[in-house]
Amino acid sequence: MRGSLLVDNIGELVTNSPGGDGPLGIRRDAALLVEDGQVAWVGPARDAPAADRRIDAEGGAVLPGFVDSHAHLVFAGDRAAEFAARMAGEPYTGGGIRTTVGATRAASDDELRATVRRLRGEAMRQGTTTIEIKSGYGLTVADEARSLRIAAEFTEDTTFLGAHVVPAEYADRPDDYVGMVCGPMLAAAAPYARWIDVFCERGAFDVDHARAILACGQAVGLGVRVHANQLGPGPGVQLGVELGAASVDHCTHLTDADVDALASTGTTWVSGFEPTTVATLLPGAEFSTRSPYPDARRLLDAGATVALATDCNPGSSYTSSMPFCVALAVREMRMTPAEAVWAATAGGAAALRRTDVGRLARGARADLMILDAPSHLHLAYRPGVPLIRQVLHNGVPQCRP
Ligand code: NIG
Ligand code: FE
Repeated sequence: MRGSLLVDNIGELVTNSPGGDGPLGIRRDAALLVEDGQVAWVGPARDAPAADRRIDAEGGAVLPGFVDSHAHLVFAGDRAAEFAARMAGEPYTGGGIRTTVGATRAASDDELRATVRRLRGEAMRQGTTTIEIKSGYGLTVADEARSLRIAAEFTEDTTFLGAHVVPAEYADRPDDYVGMVCGPMLAAAAPYARWIDVFCERGAFDVDHARAILACGQAVGLGVRVHANQLGPGPGVQLGVELGAASVDHCTHLTDADVDALASTGTTWVSGFEPTTVATLLPGAEFSTRSPYPDARRLLDAGATVALATDCNPGSSYTSSMPFCVALAVREMRMTPAEAVWAATAGGAAALRRTDVGRLARGARADLMILDAPSHLHLAYRPGVPLIRQVLHNGVPQCRP
């Protein structure tokens, strides 16, 4: 959108940047100017420059858009019956992934695209302005490549997850599948992918297979992320740290050594960006599988960098709502509201190694949300309430919900 745009009458401006108060860099009586899709100026409202247009925040809080750094949006069908069975006492094992693989392979490109568009729209209406999208429900060369091609229509942060599970046709020869993932599948997927991910878990890929696959991805320039320690303790977190992963995701079952390994990669907080290995927590998965939540307090107190993301997928966490994840993190994981909001914005940006999103300061992308509430506290204080009044993406106002 051309011309300048001033956002003023802001109740509380969360910047995640130096110059404001506390870990969220909060400014009061502030205004924000957008030009060419970027934040051009942040300062006291009384000093606000003239602008072509104005948005009156009506005393609502303004926050950076959420950065959802972990989502599986390219799939067909749903697994509502599996959810119902779990709520009646069945455990989650990841076995249902193959059901979604069958439905995804049978779907047309347009059906898959429509699902991504629908979920992307849902997420945007709930404040998400950056989203990572994984493949992982195709598991053939052609289906993984098309999943990523479609994902790339919606985001820059696409992740090749050909190593989600070993598909049924390779069940008795996992070595062959790993060879295929590292060979023709990676070659077909890499042009559409920024990241590579492996589900390193009992029943999925062991640590040797995971290391081999991630190393192949690194060799062709992909960044590393790992699904690790979701269903039980295991080597995934330490493998991620060893390989310099941007993020290890789930982190539900951690030993002291895992926590120490993550903390040793450093803390990213209000003042800067370090290429740490972020612990990305996905409380929607624990909610939807009725599992114990990860111990966020332990990670934060040890000095690890924590992100929150939805893990949106039809099996373990069919939510696109970052506000829901923030509320769960505060209520169930003993994160403070400020820690949870930071983790869902700047933490997600750190997990994607991005400095252009997750903060509101001069030069950042003008991705923000205006709340129907005076402070960020209300995101956890008023769970389930549609508090996101307006979203700007690249400086462009999105449709009101
Ligand atoms: O992150 N754990 C592995 N993958 C997904 C679940 C996929 C599914 O159940 O369909 C996750 O939770
Ligand atoms: Fe996941």
